[in-house]
Amino acid sequence: MISANSSLARPKEEAAPLSDLSGHATHAEYDRRPDGIDARFSVGWRFRLRFTSRAFEPNNRVLGGVIEAEESPARVLVFIDDGIPNANPRFTSTIRQYAEAHCDQLRLTGEPIVIRGGERAKTDRSVFESITSGINTAGLCRRSYVLVIGGGAVLDVVGFAAAVAHRGVRLIRMPSTVLAQDDSGVGVKNGINAFGKKNFLGTFTPPWAVVNDSSLLTTLADRDWCSGLSECVKVALVKDATLFDDICHASARLVARDLDTTTAIIRRSAEWHLKHIVQGGDPFELTAARPLDFGHWAAHKLEQMTDFALRHGEAVSIGIALDTTYSMLQGWLNEFDRERILTCLRGMGLPTWHDDLARTRELLDGLEEFREHLGGQLTLAMLRGIGDAFDVHTVDQKVVTRAINRLRNEAAAAPQS
Ligand SMILES: NC(=O)c1ccc[n+]([C@@H]2O[C@H](COP(=O)([O-])OP(=O)(O)OC[C@H]3O[C@@H](n4cnc5c(N)ncnc54)[C@H](O)[C@@H]3O)[C@@H](O)[C@H]2O)c1
Ligand SMILES: [Zn+2]
Repeated sequence: MISANSSLARPKEEAAPLSDLSGHATHAEYDRRPDGIDARFSVGWRFRLRFTSRAFEPNNRVLGGVIEAEESPARVLVFIDDGIPNANPRFTSTIRQYAEAHCDQLRLTGEPIVIRGGERAKTDRSVFESITSGINTAGLCRRSYVLVIGGGAVLDVVGFAAAVAHRGVRLIRMPSTVLAQDDSGVGVKNGINAFGKKNFLGTFTPPWAVVNDSSLLTTLADRDWCSGLSECVKVALVKDATLFDDICHASARLVARDLDTTTAIIRRSAEWHLKHIVQGGDPFELTAARPLDFGHWAAHKLEQMTDFALRHGEAVSIGIALDTTYSMLQGWLNEFDRERILTCLRGMGLPTWHDDLARTRELLDGLEEFREHLGGQLTLAMLRGIGDAFDVHTVDQKVVTRAINRLRNEAAAAPQS
């Protein structure tokens, strides 16, 4: 039994110094009440975000620098999105050579495991099972590292497996698509699809580190290059009007795959995502507000409706076009800004229409699915200006239909490429 003067009953305890270890309890408070105790505690996380190029060149110290080895050298199991070695068959041997050059810091527990890239990695449950099986076979413990190099889908499924194996093995993400570097890799979520719903199974688990290596992007298909730019537009629209101006200004260079221009925009977008997690006050989405999900209620539904023929980034572009048009039709956003946003998306080869938008009833089911995923009251971000988002809790379905008609008419009037 705990007495009133026991150490547990002290109203506050000194916060422990913030450790280098992620997930370290930093603060505890005990409120005694007649029927028990409410214990409140907080957990400090260190989110290591690094930017580099050619991370696997033997003299590059960035990756080794984020590995802290209680056991030395640290044991590392590598998972690779098959899109990378398919485009660059030497990639796996590059990792092996890097590990040999840094054998004092890290030791690969076996050959890197190549897994199928793209959304199917999140939909086919056997991929998740093969990853947990790989972690088991490699004998990883909580102090070992899973290093995952891949697009957002592979990061999500490997991240989920790493989060649940032994209740959490350290995860280092190396995002290899524009979208994963500017958005999904720099987050605290992972997950796989189930019951026909995106990310139905998953956890909030901050990664040990994220290393954005710009050289990984060079083998991307043009389609995946461009589709990832929609998330930069999204974060600019809700957070940063200057970033939006800069994206519009740089759009031709972004589409032409100018690496310096693209990595500069990616970095600003990634930093906004990190800032939102660290300073936004709600890293694990306990409240309903989700400004960074602007355009996503329709995007997630469209991905499902098209059986993932649309890339996430393309679906987000259409979702942004829809919610931007809705904001304008509601009188919150002026017509000029709406035009700038759609011109910017279209100028980067991003879609603002898909025929499945016309299946409006089914699309609108996405609102309830979105609400269910977040919990509580429906909350969607809408725009009243560029860089100026606000929350709404109801949606006028007639206005959504008008927005869809407007996008359809514009698509029909656009010159066919
Ligand atoms: N966890 C989150 O917070 C979060 C946030 C946003 C999006 N996501 C998820 O991210 C996923 C979309 O990610 P994405 O846009 O990166 O697409 P993706 O992961 O589907 O990858 C697209 C394609 O690119 C290939 N690829 C990856 N890297 C490559 C490279 N360097 N060279 C050549 N090919 C390469 C893949 O094999 C795949 O075929 C969706 O599942 C989405 O739900 C997650
Ligand atoms: Zn997204």
